[in-house]
Amino acid sequence: MSLLVVRDVFKSFGGNVALKGVSFSLGEGEILGIVGPNGSGKTTLLNVLSGTVRQDKGSVFFGGKRVDRLSPHVRARMGIGRTFQITRLFSNLTVLENVLVPLHYGGPGSDGKRAEEILGMVGLLHMKDVKAGSLSLAQRKRLELARALSLNPRLLLLDEVFAGLNPVSVREILDLLRRIHSETGVAMILVEHVLKALFQITRRVIVLSEGRVIYEGEPEGMANSEEVIKAYLGERYEAFRGKGP
Ligand SMILES: Nc1ncnc2c1ncn2[C@@H]1O[C@H](COP(=O)(O)OP(=O)(O)O)[C@@H](O)[C@H]1O
Ligand SMILES: [Mg+2]
Repeated sequence: MSLLVVRDVFKSFGGNVALKGVSFSLGEGEILGIVGPNGSGKTTLLNVLSGTVRQDKGSVFFGGKRVDRLSPHVRARMGIGRTFQITRLFSNLTVLENVLVPLHYGGPGSDGKRAEEILGMVGLLHMKDVKAGSLSLAQRKRLELARALSLNPRLLLLDEVFAGLNPVSVREILDLLRRIHSETGVAMILVEHVLKALFQITRRVIVLSEGRVIYEGEPEGMANSEEVIKAYLGERYEAFRGKGP
């Protein structure tokens, strides 16, 4: 049985149709990459999955249950965790407190020990008493990951987790994601522009263009699709072939 099934999802904002019939499914523990030009609907799709945006049409099943009318909190407790393109941390709270907040909403049984365990996993335990506002971008991304992991997700939604990071930090976050995957078996959907890093963690990619899936398959196949080259690869083509930056 699939962990996640997305069926024919439509979403418009006013006259602007952001998703035009998106369907795909994801198995337990599987990793999927979602790429596409800016404005193609990637973040909207993650929002529909996590529940911060309600689709106009279509359905989302998670663990065999229909979830598309449930609140983000309920979905988080069911095991859908996420990070945001622009990190959403509490700057005035400490690193540890930032992880305690979602744990608190997760219900009884949550405690500081668990929070410290997760901070250890993402490499931030030594900074637990530092205010989140004074973290570097790479550290903020680690903290976002810790928050998403706090409720023991079965599915992790990551929106541009590598964006803005230098190559060393990209490699470190990539290693961290690999470790999280092997230790917890969590399934992941990564919305990503940093293709080189993405292709090191998954062999399965969906390309979105103007709210539609125009390609699904292995990274190599992207370069054989005229539609993908035209809509997305364009100037990224050299980097994609491993010749670029
Ligand atoms: N809350 C919103 N209100 C109005 N328009 C939105 C909203 N969120 C997204 N859109 C529009 O939906 C389209 C898809 O956006 P988005 O999902 O953010 O794309 P991506 O993440 O691929 O860059 C864009 O045209 C964007 O302007
Ligand atoms: Mg986006």
